[in-house]
Amino acid sequence: MSIKKVAILTSGGDAPGLNGVIRAFVKSAVIDHGWEVVGVEDGFEGMIGTPRLRPLRNSDVRGLLGRGGTILGSTNRGNFGWHNVDGEMVRHDAVYQEFAHNAKAEGIDAVVVLGGDGSQSIAHDLYTFGAPMIGVPKTIDNDLVGTDQTFGFDTALQVATDALDRLHTTAESHDRVMVLEVMGRHAGWIALAAGLAGGTEAILIPEIPFDLDVVARKIADRDAAGALFSIIVIAEGAMPKGGTATYQREGLLGGIGMQVAAELGQRTGKDTRAVVLGHLQRGGSPTPIDRILASRYGVGAVWAISQGRFGQLVALQNDILTTVPLLECANKIKPVPVEGQLVRTARSLGIVFGDEQ
Ligand code: F6P
Repeated sequence: MSIKKVAILTSGGDAPGLNGVIRAFVKSAVIDHGWEVVGVEDGFEGMIGTPRLRPLRNSDVRGLLGRGGTILGSTNRGNFGWHNVDGEMVRHDAVYQEFAHNAKAEGIDAVVVLGGDGSQSIAHDLYTFGAPMIGVPKTIDNDLVGTDQTFGFDTALQVATDALDRLHTTAESHDRVMVLEVMGRHAGWIALAAGLAGGTEAILIPEIPFDLDVVARKIADRDAAGALFSIIVIAEGAMPKGGTATYQREGLLGGIGMQVAAELGQRTGKDTRAVVLGHLQRGGSPTPIDRILASRYGVGAVWAISQGRFGQLVALQNDILTTVPLLECANKIKPVPVEGQLVRTARSLGIVFGDEQ
């Protein structure tokens, strides 16, 4: 099949590096193949009704490498074409047919989707409806199956580590316990990596339900040894043993850091504070590692199209770009291996996870 015109869209929560992928995709499509590129505005929705397409030439992506967010806009994850009918989520196939039809009518030979597990599941479904879909993995949580690292994770880790460094000095000045809540809905990659990089006393993640008595004991042991401050990092999706995750409101995680700080204060008698890092982890300029990763994924998407790898996700495996079927990563999560080397390294450093005896 000869390719002439390709499209790119961004879906779900943003991640630093999205603009870098768009830039690299446009450059490689133009430089390597002379293809015409259009951007679809506001995720999958931009292809419905009268398609909202924006021409993307080299001049349109100038200066994007270091810019956070997405110039194309995005919509919420996972609900494209799905509707709640009497409490049950039902897919409206007509929306998927319309997407595939409109892409074809616009002469688009490939649609690249920058998105997480939910968005890649939609991309897979669109592929089954005949749309020429290619996925690129995106999430700061780094929990996508099939690829070793997603862009945005390194920037989030940088922000979280910087926050921990700053909390250290103020915690030490006031002999306090500081709890930092970071993102990580289902997987604790950011908390684990930031805890290691920031030298925390405890790392609490969704994969290892915690007992706060263990953490309180760790704080007491430090006190006894003359270290009168402690730092805890907790993923927003972490939960106590036998308990459930904490939600601010339906569907929106958040608040476990406050709870843990309050309970640790009661158990240890120490002054405790909680900080929620939130969207600071997602905004702003990507790190050099994420800029390079974004560039590789953007160029990789062009390569995948040129190879006809439709219905596949561009993936990084052992530092080599390859593709895996979208279905392999759709609606799946890559959890932190609880017996893996990173967790074992942390334990050997005396960091507790809350499951110790
Ligand atoms: O999936 C990435 C993520 O950053 C999660 O860690 C977090 O729970 C979620 O997005 C927040 O999404 P929203 O911007 O919709 O609140």
